[in-house]
Amino acid sequence: MSFTIVEPATARLNRSELAVPGSSPAFFEKAAKSAADVIFLDLEDAVAPDDKVQARKNIIEALNDVDWGEKTMSVRINGLDTHYMYRDVVDLIEQGGERLDMIMIPKVGTAADVYALDMLVTQAEDAMGRKKKIGFEMIIETALGMSNVEEIAAASWRNESLHFGVADYAASTKARTTVIGGPNANYGVLTDKDGDKPRDYHWGDMWHYAVSRMVVAARAHGLRPIDGPFGDFSDPDGFKAQAYRAAVLGCEGKWAIHPSQIDIANEVNSPSEKEVTQAQRILDAMKQAQAEGKGAVSLDGRLIDIASIKQAEVMVKKAEQIAA
Ligand code: GLV
Ligand code: MG
Repeated sequence: MSFTIVEPATARLNRSELAVPGSSPAFFEKAAKSAADVIFLDLEDAVAPDDKVQARKNIIEALNDVDWGEKTMSVRINGLDTHYMYRDVVDLIEQGGERLDMIMIPKVGTAADVYALDMLVTQAEDAMGRKKKIGFEMIIETALGMSNVEEIAAASWRNESLHFGVADYAASTKARTTVIGGPNANYGVLTDKDGDKPRDYHWGDMWHYAVSRMVVAARAHGLRPIDGPFGDFSDPDGFKAQAYRAAVLGCEGKWAIHPSQIDIANEVNSPSEKEVTQAQRILDAMKQAQAEGKGAVSLDGRLIDIASIKQAEVMVKKAEQIAA
């Protein structure tokens, strides 16, 4: 183990994160009653420039008046390159009450972006005597942000999670796709024409590197890695497959850009009964092995060792967090 201890961010269930445009207050009550773990009310890209001021008012009113129950509440502010941003932050903290848990920073590019936000939030919080400190969620969705992802992850004690913003990331990297998330038919492998096996075309996952890189940066700094949007809400199977790919790589949640995606995200990001039972069996077998002075044993014909304990503990702890 390294002598450097990674401190985990504030523990929150973040299996699903529902996006709700601030310009659509009619959706707020329904969102509050949904099964989403986290809700982010949007001031950025789901809101047209002419609606920005009204959307900000709607969100402030809703943070004060809607009963959000146990939900973790976040607001996606406008980008640091717009004049909307400073007022988003100041008005939210001065008028939004204590209900806000996190601010989501879109298109974060450098650690200095996070530093600048931290300064503004700290001043506004201090001036208001705010008790609950606001956490940061950062969307990694530009080539600049991805190339600085380590420094961004380490930039503030407020940081809680990194999110993969696939749509803007595709635009920023000039990826040849026009859909929001999911696979692309042109990103595949055609097996060798001279091989001795039947020829086959395999679809690849064009987002593998980006998601994986973000996961590593997040975990190295104790943050939650969360997969972003899947635009085709009429394709639940495609959503589920994407959510599983991200979960298998280490993400612990996924955005829902439509209410129909919430239950799927919750299901995918909760360990199944079978997985928890197996994890518990591994823990029991290793306890027995350690009592007998062994570091490794076999279970069901497979090797398990001390690293298996850590994997199994992740699964069991997650199940306990969900049950709590
Ligand atoms: C999210 O903001 C995205 O751009 O995918
Ligand atoms: Mg975006």
